[in-house]
Amino acid sequence: MSAPFITPRPGILSIKPYVGGDSTIQGKDKDKTSVIKLASNEGAFGPSPKALEAIAKSAQSVNRYPDGNASALHNAIGKRFGLDPARIICGAGSDEILSLLAYSYSGPGDEVLYTEHGFLMYPIAAKAAGATPIAVGETNLTTDVDKLLAAVTDKTKIVFLANPNNPTGTYINSSELQRLRAGLPTDVLLVIDAAYAEFVARDDYTPGFELVDQGQNTVMTRTFSKIFALGGLRLGWAYMPSEIADVINRVRGPFNVSSIAQAAGIAALEDTEFFNRSREHAILWVEKTQSALKQMGLETTNSVGNFVLVRFDGKNGKTAEAADAFLRDNSIIVRKMESYGLADSLRISIGTEKEMNACINAIERFLKTTN
Ligand SMILES: Cc1ncc(COP(=O)(O)O)c(C=O)c1O
Repeated sequence: MSAPFITPRPGILSIKPYVGGDSTIQGKDKDKTSVIKLASNEGAFGPSPKALEAIAKSAQSVNRYPDGNASALHNAIGKRFGLDPARIICGAGSDEILSLLAYSYSGPGDEVLYTEHGFLMYPIAAKAAGATPIAVGETNLTTDVDKLLAAVTDKTKIVFLANPNNPTGTYINSSELQRLRAGLPTDVLLVIDAAYAEFVARDDYTPGFELVDQGQNTVMTRTFSKIFALGGLRLGWAYMPSEIADVINRVRGPFNVSSIAQAAGIAALEDTEFFNRSREHAILWVEKTQSALKQMGLETTNSVGNFVLVRFDGKNGKTAEAADAFLRDNSIIVRKMESYGLADSLRISIGTEKEMNACINAIERFLKTTN
């Protein structure tokens, strides 16, 4: 007689595993350097040289456990952003912090809200916690505060909001964010995921520090994977009320951030030249790419992230699917968007000038192909 299957908690098997952007193309893998990867909103210039130096140095002592409180890193983040280090939590990517928040503040019978085209980790984290994720409609691919507020029920425990959002690149301004917080019941946790905050050059934008300070019920998450270009090391952080920091410190792994990630994070924060160059480059190339695509007759959102979302209307076979296949034939990997409910669109991350020109030219050639 065979033993019964061990079954996970209800809901877990309904999770579709997160699928990241590809880094290789079948048949073109031999010479990886020839493949242009614009699929995961990573840093365009490789890692910061200062971070690389810190990684090499700290690798010498990986026989030792890391500082479980990541004190030096908390202090460096606190200094850079003018925050109380005791209210900062670091994680293995901001993904880990999003999951810890979902586990800690929602469970079976609870609802977790996120926007229709919001980052896919929110429904995954909610389901893993046993809660029910609820996708709330957007307006013009942008968060709609009224719709979010209307979706709140007495079961709502968390609202996850990416601002700016990935993959749409759109954002809501600080007064809309305030209006959202003010309209939510005080016992609903608002998680503002500001992974792309550093790229936003708009006066009416806020990553949300002041909302965190204002009450006991708002958390802001950030990442070292985007502008700080350390995605492979897995490092994220969050600023939160001390009561929530106390909760997360109880549930997180005692050594959830490696010593190498801690050292690299501190060095990356200090590398202002790399930071400024990355920021200016992303802002410039989002603008250039969007305007080139619009000139070709394609629709884009007004992205404030380090990526562009472009729509293909499908006329004459010019679908997003066909564009993606054409780009792959030309060794360019971008991100298809079916999983975000945007099957007619592709997301293109900002790479180097050469890579962006290659991608723009390839799309232009694609549009001119006859079937
Ligand atoms: C909106 C958003 N939040 C969070 C993350 C996760 O970042 P991390 O690498 O810190 O886990 C991403 C990564 O793509 C993202 O787009």
